[in-house]
Amino acid sequence: MYPELLKIIDAGLKNDSQKVRNYSTKLADYLEVNGETTISKKIFKLIKKSTTRTAELDSLTAKPFDGETHVETVDISIPVETSEELFFNKFIEKEIEEFLNSYEKRDLLLKKGIETNNRLLLYGKPGTGKTSLARFISLQTNLPLITARLDGVVSSLLGSTAKNIRKVFEYAAKQPCILFLDEFDVLAKIRDDQHELGELKRVVNSLIQNIDDFPSDSIIIAATNHPKLLDSAIWRRFDTKLELDIPNKEVRKEIVEHFSNIMDNNFSSDSKKIRQLVRATDNLSPDAIKSIFNIAAKNCILKGQDKLLYSQVILEIFIYITPENYSEKNAIKFMINNLVSQREISESLSLSMRRVRSVYKEVKSNE
Ligand SMILES: Nc1ncnc2c1ncn2[C@@H]1O[C@H](COP(=O)(O)OP(=O)(O)OP(=O)(O)O)[C@@H](O)[C@H]1O
Ligand SMILES: [Mg+2]
Repeated sequence: MYPELLKIIDAGLKNDSQKVRNYSTKLADYLEVNGETTISKKIFKLIKKSTTRTAELDSLTAKPFDGETHVETVDISIPVETSEELFFNKFIEKEIEEFLNSYEKRDLLLKKGIETNNRLLLYGKPGTGKTSLARFISLQTNLPLITARLDGVVSSLLGSTAKNIRKVFEYAAKQPCILFLDEFDVLAKIRDDQHELGELKRVVNSLIQNIDDFPSDSIIIAATNHPKLLDSAIWRRFDTKLELDIPNKEVRKEIVEHFSNIMDNNFSSDSKKIRQLVRATDNLSPDAIKSIFNIAAKNCILKGQDKLLYSQVILEIFIYITPENYSEKNAIKFMINNLVSQREISESLSLSMRRVRSVYKEVKSNE
């Protein structure tokens, strides 16, 4: 029994084709050593055929790791076409387009003596699409995405964090790629008193130097929820800084319409209801809106519905935004105020019409 087999199955089920390739190579090596040359050759042939990028990726197999914990400090993923669609405010969309365009035309720009822009800093609230945008850029540029595991990079050993940073950058420099420094503010953790003051300086200097030396045919993307924690010298290193904010009304409409189509529904042709959903999701992140629609769809299916019901979506919005103040009465009020009919309320909350009517009267008399 070869333990690689389990790893290959596991990686295959997780759609991690690179891992499948790596472990298959190992397996083929063992088989060859054990005299099973025919099957070993067949495996090698399959691996070779599976992708034209194998050769490129070979240089990336020996990942850097932290000397103390032995935890690998990067993750690699190869861009694959997905159905994920991202929605941003128009200004941000334009900036992303410009960034991609200037990367694509970097040779032309360099010829004209213009420095290219290959550093992008993304900041903003959780669930606004920072990590997804890094994946999207990887797909658009067809560059592998090397994500630095920054919590693993920060070492408790004096001097080791700067060394880990250098190793990550050296690794990324082996081939054109996107080096993604997700949760970038983790590096600010070393400000705490566990570390001596000089350590922070060393880390900042190491980062700056590595960013400055980074090859121009690769891209650095950093993402953070806490831009204020970043050192100003590092902040300045990024030519393009984009705040991915909570979506405005127009973008929310696109997001609501997009996620409504998760399954057949009873409201997308009703512009009044769509408008109401846009209003009710004010201040919510795209990630929150996505999960509301997912939960609503799941609950509709579990209740035996073949459609996503407007009343269920409104109910899930209520549950999402009022986790502490959840009461039957508040739920009914919220649904009344969001264009859900009394019959739909009684059905979706399994309540008598009399109960719904009495809350309805109360709401109307207070208006
Ligand atoms: N602008 C967007 N348009 C459409 N979907 C989005 C958008 N932003 C986020 N999502 C959805 O929410 C999920 C989570 O988003 P993502 O992880 O990219 O957010 P993030 O900004 O990196 O959050 P965090 O700060 O918590 O790391 C994504 O898988 C995506 O489906
Ligand atoms: Mg993220």
